[in-house]
Amino acid sequence: MLKFAVCPEVLSAGSKFMREKERILELREQLHRHNHLYYVQNSPVISDIEFDSLMRELSALEEKHPEMKDPNSPTERVGSDISKGFKQAAHRYPMLSLDNTYDEQEVRDFFQRVNELLNEPFEICCELKYDGLSISLIYEDGELQQAVTRGDGTQGDIVTENVRTIKSIPLVLQKNSGYPQSFEIRGEILMPWSSFDMLNTERERQEEPLFANPRNAASGTLKLLNPQEVARRHLDAYLYYLLGENLTCDGHYENMMAAAGWGFKVSDHMKKCSTVNEVLDYIRYWDNERKNLPIATDGIVLKVNSIRQQLNLGYKAKSPRWAIAFKFQAERQVTRLNSVSYQVGRTGAVTPVANLDPVQLSGTTVKRASLHNSDIIKSLDLHIGDMVYVEKGGEIIPKITGVDMESRSILLGDAVRFTTICPECGTALVRYEGEAAHYCPNTTSCPPQIKGRIEHFVGRKAMNIDGLGTETIDLLYQVGLIKDIADLYTLKATDISRLEGLGEKSAINIIRGIDNSKQVPFERVLFAIGIRFVGETVAKILARAFKSIEALENATFEELTSVNEIGKKIAQSIIDFFQDERNRNLVDRLKEYGLQMETAFAEEEESSNSLAGKTIVISGVFNRHSRDEYKSIIERYGGKNSGSISAKTSFVLAGENMGPAKREKALELGVRLVSETEFLEMIDEKQIDNNNELLLPF
Ligand code: IVH
Repeated sequence: MLKFAVCPEVLSAGSKFMREKERILELREQLHRHNHLYYVQNSPVISDIEFDSLMRELSALEEKHPEMKDPNSPTERVGSDISKGFKQAAHRYPMLSLDNTYDEQEVRDFFQRVNELLNEPFEICCELKYDGLSISLIYEDGELQQAVTRGDGTQGDIVTENVRTIKSIPLVLQKNSGYPQSFEIRGEILMPWSSFDMLNTERERQEEPLFANPRNAASGTLKLLNPQEVARRHLDAYLYYLLGENLTCDGHYENMMAAAGWGFKVSDHMKKCSTVNEVLDYIRYWDNERKNLPIATDGIVLKVNSIRQQLNLGYKAKSPRWAIAFKFQAERQVTRLNSVSYQVGRTGAVTPVANLDPVQLSGTTVKRASLHNSDIIKSLDLHIGDMVYVEKGGEIIPKITGVDMESRSILLGDAVRFTTICPECGTALVRYEGEAAHYCPNTTSCPPQIKGRIEHFVGRKAMNIDGLGTETIDLLYQVGLIKDIADLYTLKATDISRLEGLGEKSAINIIRGIDNSKQVPFERVLFAIGIRFVGETVAKILARAFKSIEALENATFEELTSVNEIGKKIAQSIIDFFQDERNRNLVDRLKEYGLQMETAFAEEEESSNSLAGKTIVISGVFNRHSRDEYKSIIERYGGKNSGSISAKTSFVLAGENMGPAKREKALELGVRLVSETEFLEMIDEKQIDNNNELLLPF
């Protein structure tokens, strides 16, 4: 008999290989369990540091064993950055809606209808109506297979990659928990109030339009094509409806409790009721108590609990007969109007603001409410001292929806008349045809307009000058060091360091930021100078079409409108801007100070493949461009961004304070670290040879 002699080294390498594979499975199981404990049960048993360390160990092993790749691994939650449009899938069972009711009598009617149709005892399962967007999840053999949005009810978008980033949605169900081999579960994807506030604060800083409510934010987020960005926004999900042929129980409530055992996040607030009065008590309780929930709800859903009885009651065209939704009234409070003040924005638009006696509304104290414009003030017939209704329905900024005429005293206060002059500089206001807002036309010397324009100019998406916050700009303006955006380029470190609260270090930092901004590409300079209606996208289009500020300055109305996506309003605004001699002077000064006033697209297009085939990891903090800018530079030059270092990484673009774990990993795998300056030199054509190999000073 032939015997094989096995080299001991091969044997030990082989067993190490097996051990690592086993460890991967073990780590995945552990991490799924800790995820569940943290995100679903709110009771973590290990610290964040321990969790991260397990995650890092798994990531490293998975990189070493790419054959073990699994889209449902906990490491996949961070999302890949592959962008693609969504494909559609048909729903196995149509996604129906619910009939809405708004008062208690309609709830009694529903109860009676069910009673008559069934003619036997029944229970109603009461639960919260989540205000997000519905999702259908398909699980096979305990693993998430597909996530589809409601769409038109018959078919929806496949958003599985995005849904994988929602940590309360289990990718793999709890082992041996008794889940069916194949089933569908539906629920609501939500953005918790805390994530919503954070997202809007960030968007405000970046001058991006704010989301009106968490539902819009959740829906906008789920439709993003970049799962990494979805992961960053911290969505949550509650599951409320199980479908399938082999469900374990006849009761909806019992099914949901079973689903909770499999690993799903199911509400703790579901309640089975046998009488209509119990149902109404539940509604009344939650109408008030919902203010204390971390997520938005807009009503209560009432479902006949028995699945058998549900089937007996059946469906109408678009909704089941076995369920209804009771919708809460938008929350409203009455409070006193003390005065009206006016805010002037960067564009000169004047917004009236009502100052109120503080009042509690949806969990926050409201002292001010927007009155939008003069037409709204007129239609409300507002008087100082009026008791007014304030609502927060869906919108971020509370609004005044009416006056309590009965409580109006005989001593009627002064009628509110929209101001005719700018509250900041006294200039007579103007109203442009077709617009609801009034404007202060004093663009050159109205302080909030000047400061607003400077704030816009230094913003991250514009010139990206660090260290110049609202307060510093205010200070620099107060002492007369800056009167317009071009004055920034005349500032000296000694001017700044003399100001209160600003030391030498911050002064140098600001000056360095101002100096670096001279490299900011033309398209962003165009956005930064703040021509009305020229936002980020329009600036890009204009830069591509006209290539220089000179060409844009000389463009006729016809030439402007002949550019795709440039309409009459934008064209006229550009013409008006350059017709004003003060603006032309400003642009000339910026040109003199060395800002980019021509597009570099022609060169970029030629060199757009310099980084082709390179996978680049960005790490650390940079001086010349932001991380986002480096991401787009890499893409523009044909390279690919990656979040983690592996053997496939071509090099790491390493800024200051690069994370020690990344540095170690790069060292271990022999991946090169390229500094910011080296990288910028590298993308210069001359540094790259014909084979696209990077000639680096290593
Ligand atoms: S059950 C056949 N339960 O409300 C009915 N829906 O207006 C299946 N919703 O599209 C839905 N919370 O997006 C159900 N606890 C809950 C809900 C809920 C929110 C949403 C869902 C649905 C809409 C119907």
